[in-house]
Amino acid sequence: MKLEIQNVSKRYQRNRYGLKDFSITIEKGILGLLGPNGAGKSTLLKMIATVNKPSDGIISLNKNNIAKDANYMRKQLGFLPQDFGVYPNLNAYEFLEYMAAMKGIGGPNLKPRIHQLLEGLNLIDTAKKPIGTYSGGMKQRIGIAQALLNSPKIIIFDEPTVGLDPEERVRFRNLISDLANDCIVILSSHIVSDIDTIADQVAVMKNGTLITHGNQENIISNVHDKVYETSIKKEELGTFKLNHIVVSTSRKNENLLVRYITTAPIANSIRQVATLEDAYLYLTKNN
Ligand SMILES: Nc1ncnc2c1ncn2[C@@H]1O[C@H](COP(=O)(O)OP(=O)(O)OP(=O)(O)O)[C@@H](O)[C@H]1O
Ligand SMILES: [Mg+2]
Repeated sequence: MKLEIQNVSKRYQRNRYGLKDFSITIEKGILGLLGPNGAGKSTLLKMIATVNKPSDGIISLNKNNIAKDANYMRKQLGFLPQDFGVYPNLNAYEFLEYMAAMKGIGGPNLKPRIHQLLEGLNLIDTAKKPIGTYSGGMKQRIGIAQALLNSPKIIIFDEPTVGLDPEERVRFRNLISDLANDCIVILSSHIVSDIDTIADQVAVMKNGTLITHGNQENIISNVHDKVYETSIKKEELGTFKLNHIVVSTSRKNENLLVRYITTAPIANSIRQVATLEDAYLYLTKNN
């Protein structure tokens, strides 16, 4: 599997780009797509999923240009859009059967597949209740299930962990790791902890452009000698933030314990082991 995105732009209005001259090549494994709100994540994912067309550039899957042959992509695709909607009066079985029919999936394997997905997503107990009565996290899990109906080879999940509680996040992670054997999986988020434990590769984007792409160690190496901790007075925080990127603060007696990123640490700072969160903050603040 090889997904190539070459110089792709999406222009929404005359001078307004959702994505600008974006290039990346993705091969099998899990790619975490990280970026703040408005970075262009959904714009990119919708074009890969063939629900939106690039204004410029080429997206190809195994050398097939998907603008010319959208079905080649669609047959192998599982997509959870960010704004996925459900039909509230259908129960989980009915909804998944409906989605399967829309996708042209049928046959004797369908019912066992639906059952397997509902089990994998911990929805069996409520599967006979109308989806309208589900919590946000349960609806999200139905959205994940529908994307997996056709045993896709390329799986695109736009903000899949929104609304999932910690236990369901773990379950989701395990499910994705099991799926990822010879597939391409792309997960977007603006929260590092949603992807850092499962992504083989990470791409960081901002303002419609790719800032960096690589494995987690590559990305973390941007800040490996720049993360420190120190203690400052509360009233010093404003000035401190002008000179350094503050990752987090916590109260320590009368003072503040500050984790920060800098090339010029102040006296009495202790260097810390850098994380993907530090690197993400550094890359999106500095670009
Ligand atoms: N249909 C549209 N018409 C005009 N502008 C749009 C449209 N969709 C997105 N945009 C703009 O394109 C940019 C990228 O939006 P996009 O939704 O792709 O970002 P995102 O990274 O998915 O953000 P979020 O984390 O909030 O989901 C934003 O500036 C947004 O306002
Ligand atoms: Mg989005």
